[in-house]
Amino acid sequence: MKWYKIYDFVMDGAEPQALYSVRTVEVSKTLVCLGRLPDGYFAVSDKCPHASGRLGLGECTHEGKVVCPHHRYKYDMKTGSGNPEQGDYVETYIVETRNDGVWITLDKQKENNIPWWKSLFGK
Ligand code: FES
Repeated sequence: MKWYKIYDFVMDGAEPQALYSVRTVEVSKTLVCLGRLPDGYFAVSDKCPHASGRLGLGECTHEGKVVCPHHRYKYDMKTGSGNPEQGDYVETYIVETRNDGVWITLDKQKENNIPWWKSLFGK
């Protein structure tokens, strides 16, 4: 698994991103929407599956959902699932907070951490 450092706590400070915020980060030429919730950092694809809006330019609710800035579709930052009425989902990525910073991998989810929709749709 290849890991990329998003934040360095020495260079970027202990809290480099505000709580309940999202932003776009580029990881090895892939745009990722990175959100910070009370229990850590979470990442989903930056590309909204509805009409390709930039999720990292949206906002984060206190329920842990990113709101797309275009048509306000919502996606759970932890599972990637869209609101039930949307019937869609967005790719999730593994993020780890370590002693020295925040790290992400673009590799596939660990087998024991497969989002519910991947088992439903076989993707
Ligand atoms: S492009 Fe994201 S809700 Fe339409």
